[in-house]
Amino acid sequence: MKIYKAHIIYTPERDRFEVLENGYVAVDDDGRVAGVGSSLKALGCDDAEVTDFGNKLLIPAMNDVHVHAAQYHNQGIAMDLELLPWLDNYTFPEEMKFGSEEYAERIYRRFVNHLWRVGTMRSVVFATIHTEGTRWLMRHFEEAGMGAMVGKVAMNRNCPPALQESVEEYVEGFESLVNEYPGSEALVRPIVTPRFIPSCTPELLRACGEMARRHNLPVQSHLSENLSEIELVSQLEPESRGYADAYHSYGLLGPQPTVMAHCVWSDEAERRLLRDNGVMVAHCPTSNLNVASGMAPVATMLREGIKVGLGSDISGGHDFSLFRVMIYAIQVSKMHYQRSGHAVPFLSLSEAFWMATKSGGSFFGRVGSFEKGYDFDALVLDDSDLYPDDYSLLQRLERIIYTGDDRHIARRYCRGREIIAPLP
Ligand code: GUN
Ligand code: FE
Repeated sequence: MKIYKAHIIYTPERDRFEVLENGYVAVDDDGRVAGVGSSLKALGCDDAEVTDFGNKLLIPAMNDVHVHAAQYHNQGIAMDLELLPWLDNYTFPEEMKFGSEEYAERIYRRFVNHLWRVGTMRSVVFATIHTEGTRWLMRHFEEAGMGAMVGKVAMNRNCPPALQESVEEYVEGFESLVNEYPGSEALVRPIVTPRFIPSCTPELLRACGEMARRHNLPVQSHLSENLSEIELVSQLEPESRGYADAYHSYGLLGPQPTVMAHCVWSDEAERRLLRDNGVMVAHCPTSNLNVASGMAPVATMLREGIKVGLGSDISGGHDFSLFRVMIYAIQVSKMHYQRSGHAVPFLSLSEAFWMATKSGGSFFGRVGSFEKGYDFDALVLDDSDLYPDDYSLLQRLERIIYTGDDRHIARRYCRGREIIAPLP
């Protein structure tokens, strides 16, 4: 058993911070929270040794539910096109480079290190079609001790031939990764990843759905991000009642845990389908702004009972930090608030924090909170340079989220283990 003492802040519910000034959290030998309380006595651990973080804050680590590892090199460039030409001109040419194992090994190492730096201990990741490259990404996560669901991407149409695989090649490559990374409790797991409907023939989409069911694996893809994309999907899938309905018809909308990125333009019927199938929406506000896709109605989705997590969506998004993504999520929701004549409320800080921690974390199991039984994924925040004495604990957290950066993250834990150094 390990005991940590700090000012503990987390969101057991969407609309509420739990704040424990000088609180304690007990972590068992499996890396799970055994209890949290305001005294050692309350935890029943009177005689345990305590790691005391003094005046620092202790919060759950960040969970990024949508990010492209193979777009790392394009971070912060190529912001002048909408989605479909953006893919053709910038993204596909970069992803083709991952046919080189040497390139994949090097860029993926930088990518994992960058996630570590910003305090993201779990992520749901797109790699590329390349099996060997994807394997490097999984190895890097494993070596780092960080959690990830890693997707070898399925694609076989509307992209350069070098980014296409046959259904058989895809299935064979994907299953080799499944065999190497079995175990639903493992920190690093494969995830079924059809890029989006325009990139995959019906045969490939069907194979993806079958694979998810056969191996009981989660699924990730993109949904209703951009208007030209949606128009293209309606041409490709004339029989379906909509974009999400098309995924549904291929067995790609549950019952396996599923995360769909963006959902900017999902109408009420589509949102109902997402809710009824327990699909998590990955809200990626930086990406939606950069690629000029629009603004996802996240406050509405939350009130409708849809699960929502946050994604950096590098490189559509420009910033790895989920602190930054929380701020953008709140700011975008304030645009909806104004445009709706105040009918739709804007997101609170606790709602944004909850999406980045407990809600997004639920995709990985019991992750993203300090309630008993949760994996101890945590960040220790040091805001000693931000005049903390002038502020309440919640104000200190708010100031770190709004004005801080990775220099304020003093320690990082994933499933109870301190992740001290990134990869060499
Ligand atoms: N839709 C299909 N592929 C992509 C991608 O790489 N990024 C974004 N933002 N949307 C996509
Ligand atoms: Fe994406």
